[in-house]
Amino acid sequence: MPKVTIDNIEIEVPDGTTILQAARMIGGDVVPPAMCYYSKLETSGGYCRTCIVKVTQGSAKDPRPMPKPVASCRTPVMDGMVVQNRTAPDLLEARNGVVEFLLINHPLDCPICDQAGECHLQDLSYENGLAKSRYEFKRREFDKIDIGDKIKLHMTRCILCYRCVKVANQLCDGRVHGVLNRGDVSEISTYIQNAVDNDFSGNMIDVCPVGALTDKTFRFKSRVWFTKPMDAHRDCKKCDGKVALWMSNNEVLRVTGRKDTYGELESWICNECRFDKKEVSDWKIEGPRKIDRHSVISQNHYESLRQLKIDVSKQKNIAEKAHQDNK
Ligand code: SF4
Ligand code: SF4
Ligand code: FES
Repeated sequence: MPKVTIDNIEIEVPDGTTILQAARMIGGDVVPPAMCYYSKLETSGGYCRTCIVKVTQGSAKDPRPMPKPVASCRTPVMDGMVVQNRTAPDLLEARNGVVEFLLINHPLDCPICDQAGECHLQDLSYENGLAKSRYEFKRREFDKIDIGDKIKLHMTRCILCYRCVKVANQLCDGRVHGVLNRGDVSEISTYIQNAVDNDFSGNMIDVCPVGALTDKTFRFKSRVWFTKPMDAHRDCKKCDGKVALWMSNNEVLRVTGRKDTYGELESWICNECRFDKKEVSDWKIEGPRKIDRHSVISQNHYESLRQLKIDVSKQKNIAEKAHQDNK
C-alpha cells in the first residue's frame, strides 16, 4: 500500500486512493476544499480546481516535484509522494486566484440567497477571497429557470461544478438537463425547457454547492441559521427515508438529506420525502442534528462572539472615557 505525506503527516492508503481522499482520511486542516468532487457521484471532480495541492515529491522512485499545482481529487497517490496544502504559501496564493476566477461573474446575492449560511462558496470566499473584485466587465446575466415544479435555477450563481448533471445522469431516468454551450457562455439548462420530473431529481439541490439550485417549497421562508435541524425518518418505499428536517417552532420548513462534514449526502432521498412530507406527524423525530461545518449554520460557530464581547467592552470603555473627557 502506498505511503503519502500531506502537510508533514504520513499515511498509508489503499492503491488508487486520490490525494484528496488520503487527506480526508487524515482529516482537519489538511483537507483541501472541494467544490465539484462528490464521493458518491462517479466521474465527479476535475472541474473547479479549488482542491489544488503542491506535489513536492512525485514518488519514492521519481522524487522530482510536479511542475505545477495538481487537482487533488483527480490525482492518485504514489508511494513516497510528498504533498503540501496549508503549509505552502504559494499554493494558497494559487487557490486564492482560483476563487477569484470563480467569483468574477458571481452576483452579490448573499443577503437574499437561500444558500447563505450553508454555502461552500461563501465559506471559500471568506477564507480565500479578496475583499474587492478586480473584475471590471459586465457580469453574465440569465433569466431564472424552473427545473420542474419544485426546483428553481439561478444560473448567475452557478459555478458549473457539474454535480447536478451527474445526479441527473446517475440517479434519474431519461435525463433532460445538462450543460449547454462552452466557455464563458456555458449554462445549466433543461433541454428545450423540459421539466425534470423524476423521483430523485431533488438531490440536485443538495449536491449544488452554491445557491444556484434552490427548493421552491422553501424559497425565502427563513434564513437557515434561524431554523432548527432535526434528524428524522419515515418508512418510505422509494428511499431509506432518513432525512434532516429544518424546523421553526413546530413547523417543518424544509426537508433535505443528511450531509456529512464535507457537505455530502449520507444517502439519496426521494422527492416525496423531500417535497410532500412537511407535517411533523409524517416523521419520527430522532433529535437535534449536529451540523459539523464551520459555516454559519454550525453550532459553536458563535464561539467567536466571545472575542466580539471583549471588543465590545473595549469599545464601551473607550466610549465612557471619551464621555468623561468631554464633561
Ligand atoms: S451562492 Fe453562496 S456566495 Fe453565491 S449568493 Fe448564494 S450564498 Fe452568496
Ligand atoms: S447548478 Fe449547482 S450543482 Fe449544477 S453545475 Fe451549477 S453549481 Fe453545480
Ligand atoms: S474538487 Fe477537485 S477540481 Fe473541483
